[in-house]
Amino acid sequence: MRKPFIAANWKMHKNVAESVDFVKQIKDKLPNEKDMEVGIAAQAFSLPSMVQAAGQSGLKIIAQNAAAEYSGPYTGEISLRGLHDAGVSYVMLGHIERRRLFGETNEDVHKKVQLALQRGVTPIICTDETMVQQEVNGEIHYVFHQLMTVLHGISLDQVKQIVVSYEPSWAVGAGQHANPTLAEEGCRLIRRTIADYYSFEIADKIRILYGGSVNPNNISAIMAKPNIDGVLIGRASLDVDNFLRMIDAAK
Ligand code: G3P
Repeated sequence: MRKPFIAANWKMHKNVAESVDFVKQIKDKLPNEKDMEVGIAAQAFSLPSMVQAAGQSGLKIIAQNAAAEYSGPYTGEISLRGLHDAGVSYVMLGHIERRRLFGETNEDVHKKVQLALQRGVTPIICTDETMVQQEVNGEIHYVFHQLMTVLHGISLDQVKQIVVSYEPSWAVGAGQHANPTLAEEGCRLIRRTIADYYSFEIADKIRILYGGSVNPNNISAIMAKPNIDGVLIGRASLDVDNFLRMIDAAK
């Protein structure tokens, strides 16, 4: 059984005070950690205070990015060493906005994933594809290529720990309705890709999240899909009541 994982991705929203306040408002209302994981990906400067505010609640604090190098002369980067020391549980790597807006390549994401695994911060590997590619039947190859480049050389033992997300560009921040059928198809293909590369047993254990226009109205239909183990929620996660409603609906 794969444990459901509901994660907010706040992107560049909320300052430290707002982030901590949000954590304090939800931390005693979360489901038992044994049944469901809940996390929040916030801006780097808020993470230590959020970890502190979350305390023993089980709420996972997630970084949105990290550098591919552990330490050294990399002005402006976010080190995995710092994230680990701060008690951050997960790090999102290769989010579509990182790839599109900041030119991150599969090779960059691969290096970051390897380092995160070595340094004890669990990577959430983000993959994406576009509606056009899917319509022209290029999607299978694209997802395969993207994921395989990132996972190349990652051992069986290491790969068991990862989480993968599928966030198609047509659904991320586009204000469009998420399509649970297409979301399931993308996640199914990712699982099949992992099964081909590693094994069915491994693929069966890895959690795959869907991201893109998830909201309180569509989350139940999305979570009901067999290959979708959780969601990454952008805009709709910024409001406390909405976020709690979605956690409830996902149970
Ligand atoms: O990481 C999740 C995010 O990119 C989806 O954003 O606003 O479409 O829910 P949104």
